[in-house]
Parts: sequence; C-alpha cells; structure tokens
Amino acid sequence: MTRPADDERLAVDLAGLRLRSPVLLAAGTAGYADELADAIDLRRVGGVVTKSITAEPRAGNETWRVAEVPGGMLNAIGLANVGADRFRDEIAPRLSAAPATVIGSIAGHSAEEYARVARMFDAIDTVPAVEVNVSCPNVADGSVFGEAPDALGRLVAALRPALARTKLIVKLPPAAGGDGPAASIVSLARAAIDAGADGLTIANTIPAMAVDPETREPLLANVTGGLSGPAVHPVIVRLVHLAHRHAARQSQVPIIAVGGVVSWRQAAEFILVGASAVQVGTATFADPRAPLKILSGLGRWVRRQGVASVMDLVGAVRLPGGAR
Ligand SMILES: Cc1cc2nc3c(=O)[nH]c(=O)nc-3n(C[C@H](O)[C@H](O)[C@H](O)COP(=O)(O)O)c2cc1C
Repeated sequence: MTRPADDERLAVDLAGLRLRSPVLLAAGTAGYADELADAIDLRRVGGVVTKSITAEPRAGNETWRVAEVPGGMLNAIGLANVGADRFRDEIAPRLSAAPATVIGSIAGHSAEEYARVARMFDAIDTVPAVEVNVSCPNVADGSVFGEAPDALGRLVAALRPALARTKLIVKLPPAAGGDGPAASIVSLARAAIDAGADGLTIANTIPAMAVDPETREPLLANVTGGLSGPAVHPVIVRLVHLAHRHAARQSQVPIIAVGGVVSWRQAAEFILVGASAVQVGTATFADPRAPLKILSGLGRWVRRQGVASVMDLVGAVRLPGGAR
C-alpha cells in the first residue's frame, strides 16, 4: 500500500469544508485575499481569512496603530476596511482566481450591520465560510458582543438566516472568566454552538496597553489595543483546551486556534488540545514564509506520530491519569 502523500495527511475537514492544510492566515494580517501571493505560495495554505469587513467603509484609528512589545505586538487598527459594497464590487470578482480558500470576516456595531455584511458574503459563491469577529462594541449599549453569552447567542441566531449557503464560524474573544460573573470561554462557546455556529475560532487578541517611559505616552494612539504573538500562546492553549473538552467536542463543532503560532510546535500544541486547524498572524509580519515553514514542520510531526491524518491528533493530548 502506498503511503498517503503529505498533503493528504494534512488535509482537514472543517464542518464539511475540506481544507488542503490546517494552516490558515489570520484575519487582518493577510489583506483581503491574495495580497501575500507574491511573498508566499498561497496554494499550500488551508485558507486566508479576510480583514474584517463592516457594512460601511472605515478609516480606522489614528496612528500609531501597531507597536512592538516583548513577545509580540499591540494593535488598535480600528477595523479599517473598504466596507461591504466595495468588497463586493472590487474584491469579490478576483476571488475566483485566489489561490487559497477565502473565509470572509465580518464585524459590526449592531446585529443589523453584521447581518448586512453576512448577506453580502453569502451572495459570493467563492467564499464558502465566514468568521464572525464578535470583539466589537455594540452601539446600542457599549457592551462587547462576544463578552456576554446571551448577547452572543442572539447575534449568532440573527446571523444564521443570513447565511443560507455559507458556514458560520464564530471568533471568540479570549474570555478568561471562570465560575464568576465574567464570561468564560466555555459559556461563550456553548452559546455560539447552541445558536447554530458551525465552527469556533479561538481567540482574538488579548486587551493590553504599553507606555513609553520617556515620553510617558501610551504607545498606541488609541491608548489600549490587542496583544498578539508568542506571549499570548499558552493563554490561548488553555482556552482551546477548555472549549474543546467542555463544549465543542460533544457537539463535534471544530475549533480553529489562533494566537502566537510561530513554529510547527505551537500549531501541534493547538491540535493536541482540540483544534482542527490553526491560524497564523503576527508571525507573518516577521517572516512572510512562516506559515509554509509551520506546515512543513507539521507534516514531519504527523509522520513521526505515525498517524494517517493530522485529524487523528485533534484532541489527542495525554492528560495526567489518562483523563479525557
Ligand atoms: C495588525 C492586526 C490586525 C488584525 N485585524 C483583525 C481583524 O480585522 N479581525 C479579526 O478578527 N482579527 C484581527 N486580528 C487578530 C488576529 O486575527 C489574531 O486573532 C491575533 O493576532 C492572534 O494571532 P497571532 O498571535 O498569530 O497574531 C488582527 C491582528 C493584528 C496583529
């Protein structure tokens, strides 16, 4: 019997969507679809998540909008994007030629705004899935959609009918709460799944702030921003582990893990705690070829583990005492 080629071992099924590899490019770090095509061979990545699209065009925050910090970076881009109409008219026509599966990212400040962008993506048949960025404040009450399970469930339920053809993946914030009043990743994951999510992406950036001691000014014009990069990785491993064990596994809802993947090791960790795929963001700023290097390393790891498919390793972490 011939051994399956690497690409076959690395192919993953994400809620019925077949991806040629489990390494995707994260929202907001890879342009709208094909901008990185000159820097890396996008045919090898599992998919590209677009910048988050809002109903109206947005200029985003004042600069500085990104800053380097030890172990990662801060960003407060403020959802700068061309808006739904220009995406549909100018970017969508070139997607059929895009060398990778394109996943649309949706953001908004009201359920209606999210639904409008969802309908726009649903009408583009070259976009098989959308990722809903729920780390946005609701204009009605200022709360962040993804921070309260009830509000999240209502948002997902409102989007479901707008996505007749398209898979709905909910990108959760890195909720660190436990049993107290702060939402936990498990309660958010359950709310999204119960409301009809086909998949979860865990997680968005961690709220953070940095100050220049000489000028005494915050590094970001927005004062606070989101931390990404290697510093966040172990935090997100725990969240993926909890969401997988206590919410997603029972319902067989796949998780895409994102946060601080810079080499195949972090990607493998994510897979072992329950991720079916990973996304790479900050690492591509330092090295645009990072996703392909991660992919090659993952292929070697899957072979060393002696399994036929990377999917056999999803959730295969060995916990103390054989706990599952
Ligand atoms: C510059 C920048 C822009 C981002 N823009 C978005 C965005 O538009 N929508 C979104 O859901 N996440 C956005 N993110 C978050 C990333 O998709 C990802 O969740 C986060 O950076 C953690 O992954 P990493 O450590 O591999 O970068 C952005 C991150 C960065 C660094």
